[in-house]
Amino acid sequence: YSLEKHNTFHLPVKTRWFMEYTNEEELERVLRDEYFQECLSLHIGSGSNLLFINDFNGIILHSAIKGIRVEKETDEHIWLRVGAAERWDDVVAHAVANGWGGIENLSLIPGEAGAAAIQNIGAYGAEIKDVIESVETYNQLTFEKRIFTNEECQYGYRSSYFKNEHNDPHIVTYIIIRLDKRPSFSINYGNLKEELAKYPEVTLEAIRRAVITIRQEKLPDPDKLGNAGSFFMNPVIPVAQFEKLKEQYPGMPSYPAGEGKVKVPAGWLIEQCGFKGKSHGPVGVYEKQALVLVNLGEARGHEIALVAESIRTAVKDRFGIEIMPEVKYVG
Ligand code: EPU
Repeated sequence: YSLEKHNTFHLPVKTRWFMEYTNEEELERVLRDEYFQECLSLHIGSGSNLLFINDFNGIILHSAIKGIRVEKETDEHIWLRVGAAERWDDVVAHAVANGWGGIENLSLIPGEAGAAAIQNIGAYGAEIKDVIESVETYNQLTFEKRIFTNEECQYGYRSSYFKNEHNDPHIVTYIIIRLDKRPSFSINYGNLKEELAKYPEVTLEAIRRAVITIRQEKLPDPDKLGNAGSFFMNPVIPVAQFEKLKEQYPGMPSYPAGEGKVKVPAGWLIEQCGFKGKSHGPVGVYEKQALVLVNLGEARGHEIALVAESIRTAVKDRFGIEIMPEVKYVG
């Protein structure tokens, strides 16, 4: 079974089996199946954050649980229960159309709602963790249903309980998000503020449109040019290390990242190392955003991984900073 349409790098990899379930009962039946338990398995969303190194010799599992339903409501807030397989951007569009605030900055992020909650997607000063009320899951080993509160999800920058490999694997079936009926806007992220200045008024709709404009300008459309968004995470380093580097590289941008730490944009580091817009065979470093690796045509997973490795090494040698992939390697 080809996974070409199930990974946004469009790598022509195959899996032995591909399985989809449409409700919780079906999922439970799959998890309890002895044959399933013996096989290697991997649960994916829309594959917008995956790098397949080889074919997958096992079962790829995918949720088809859909639905966006109002769970409860007060004068100020509305809670939505969203099926893991809903396209994340459809959820954002739905919220914005109804005047519910909280996720408009997360417009046009590829992927599905379940994966968004696992990955703690973020952009333009917002993260999904800010609106997650709870996450409904099944434990893949004990088959138990468990609802995680926001706190139990242990959210950090692009991280969560679910991404931590020391924990039992959990499959997300639904997420519950809390939105504001009287939205307050978060528009201080550099280029968002600039883009919004072109609009007569700041509204949810304007923010959504501004974010979409910026993303379309800077990030390649995976349907046209295979990619998985930011390939690396932005490294977080001690302030002291940053101050030293800043003496040598006065242009180095940074964002505060908690007590004594700063986050440095990996895209800047990679650009400084001369990779931006360059290609190595079928693997390119996107010309408008160095943090994005692109499949120029016939790239294979291992070729992308090799380019990523040479970028990592160059950044380490030049700045002494270790950058880690955000994309998940499979195989
Ligand atoms: N920069 C460069 N050269 C580049 C790219 C960026 O100098 O080639 C500089 C920019 O000038 C700017 C800074 O780096 O000063 C930040 O750039 P940008 O606003 O494009 O964001 P980013 O830090 O590169 C992060 C997220 C993106 C998210 C944007 C916007 C990570 C790993 N990436 O990128 O998320 O859309 O911020 O908030 O945190 C993703 O995770 O897949 C993703 C696209």
